[in-house]
Amino acid sequence: DSSLKQTLVNSIRNIPDYPKQGVMFRDITTLLGNARAFRRAVDELVHPYAGGKVDKIAGIEARGFIIGGAMAHQLSAGFVPIRKKGKLPHDTVRIAYSLEYGLDEMEMHRDAIIPGEKVLLVDDLIATGGTAEAAVKLLQQLGADIVAACFVIDLPELGGRKKLEALGVNVRTLIDFDGH
Ligand code: PRP
Ligand code: MG
Repeated sequence: DSSLKQTLVNSIRNIPDYPKQGVMFRDITTLLGNARAFRRAVDELVHPYAGGKVDKIAGIEARGFIIGGAMAHQLSAGFVPIRKKGKLPHDTVRIAYSLEYGLDEMEMHRDAIIPGEKVLLVDDLIATGGTAEAAVKLLQQLGADIVAACFVIDLPELGGRKKLEALGVNVRTLIDFDGH
């Protein structure tokens, strides 16, 4: 509803020209630091999935760990991390993905998901969708049943939601911002 959206929008700090000229950075540290906004965001993200509809939350490093950890606790689900390469100690699956400048790689532990488990993918924000698309591919490789991908913020002009939906993934976001 509109009062929830307003609470969330008001709790996010907007930083012009960060990290570069022309980009408006949406800083969620202020949302996370606001007890009411943090709880309302997590409650809203989890509410369709209460009652055993999800086995695990897969959170994308780094801000997806914070939101996803809170969601996992609320749903009594497990939490598994999707990390930047080289951080996970056991056998991993790895995928390259493109960022605004160049390539990066992300990894999951091979045994993080039991094939057929119902998984929610979580990150703070979806922009071009390149990060989330790579995460979807890792989860699919491990046999996850992806229930949905959840984000606090969508930047719809950058097309990420459509990219995930074209892969057949349900997308759930709480608020939109225009432009960068
Ligand atoms: C940001 C954000 C998402 C990603 C979205 O992360 O937290 O993970 O960008 O962009 P995309 O939809 O265009 O792929 P960033 O790559 O800045 O790294 P960080 O979360 O580790 O700071
Ligand atoms: Mg990120």
